[in-house]
Amino acid sequence: MANACFSILAQVLLAPQEKLLSDLLELAQKLEKENYSLKQEVRHSSQGLEDQQQHYSHLTTQLEHLQSHLTHMEKMSMLGQMVAGIAHEINNPITFIYGNLPYIEEHVQDLLKVLQAYQGNSRESIVATLESVDIAFIQEDLPRIVDSMKLGADRVRELVLTLRNFYRLDEPEMKAADLHEGIEDTLLLLRHRYKSEIEIVKELDNIPPVECHINQINQVMMNLLSNAIDALLESDISQPKQIIIETRLLSSNHLCISISDNGPGVALGIQSRLFEPFFTTKPIGLGTGLGLSICHQIITETHGGKIYCCSSPGEGTTFRVELPIRQKHFETAEVLSETKPLSP
Ligand SMILES: Nc1ncnc2c1ncn2[C@@H]1O[C@H](COP(=O)(O)OP(=O)(O)OP(=O)(O)O)[C@@H](O)[C@H]1O
Ligand SMILES: [Mg+2]
Repeated sequence: MANACFSILAQVLLAPQEKLLSDLLELAQKLEKENYSLKQEVRHSSQGLEDQQQHYSHLTTQLEHLQSHLTHMEKMSMLGQMVAGIAHEINNPITFIYGNLPYIEEHVQDLLKVLQAYQGNSRESIVATLESVDIAFIQEDLPRIVDSMKLGADRVRELVLTLRNFYRLDEPEMKAADLHEGIEDTLLLLRHRYKSEIEIVKELDNIPPVECHINQINQVMMNLLSNAIDALLESDISQPKQIIIETRLLSSNHLCISISDNGPGVALGIQSRLFEPFFTTKPIGLGTGLGLSICHQIITETHGGKIYCCSSPGEGTTFRVELPIRQKHFETAEVLSETKPLSP
């Protein structure tokens, strides 16, 4: 355009006046046309810009809808996982209560028989009944069963409270608690499952009270012990079935709890998946695969500890939990090994 103007101007300087006038007119017309088409272009592109702007704002609205939908779905899935987790945890103590009912029933039947014999007042029948009923065993076993059922009921109540306080789970302050007491409670709850078939060996160190949410740590013990019992009851190993519970002081602010069984072990191919939510090798209805993922969350996220599995297939499994004793050292805690050694 500029070149064209210069060449016309050059001609203007050289040409006669009429020619000069017509060329000037022509130039003016050209300029006007150019101007018009430029204006058109600007109008089109500003229209295009407006269209694009509308399109983008439409997309932004859609994106916002999608985001809020995703947040909602995320909340629902968290809620679903939480409910599944709580249902999983409630299932354990309910099973103890339910599992103990037949024994209570048996003992109560025996005691009623004795009572009836006394009511009949015949000396022979009283002696015969007392001989047929193991009163000494009932005296010893009945309070234990009732204790275990009471603990089960307490655990259910605590879990329901946990459900109510779910969104404030991290707020209630931790308290110094006796881990050994928690282990004893848990063993009592599981007694009906391991009773005659599995020997429990305790190698307990002299550990101080640990600052923790004891209900949650008990939940971890419950899951690890239940898994060990499941593994042993399913296996047909020739040697006596055994679970070893060990506690050990690691340093002035760390201790570890190990739960080892001499069951079938964990196949190498699945060792890295054990802590994934919903990972299970148990048949549908027998395992949800949530136990270890709940343990992992409680130990690492809530208590700043570590949990890992050491297993050699065919030789047994050890789950090792490492915990800080005082939580104020949480951030400066010694770095504890993240690796999962494969041999116990
Ligand atoms: N002591 C163990 N010995 C062998 N395998 C184990 C042991 N502990 C856990 N596992 C394996 O880890 C898997 C996951 O365990 P997790 O506790 O998360 O779920 P689950 O026991 O299958 O189901 P749930 O805990 O809901 O009953 C188990 O299915 C089992 O294959
Ligand atoms: Mg389990």
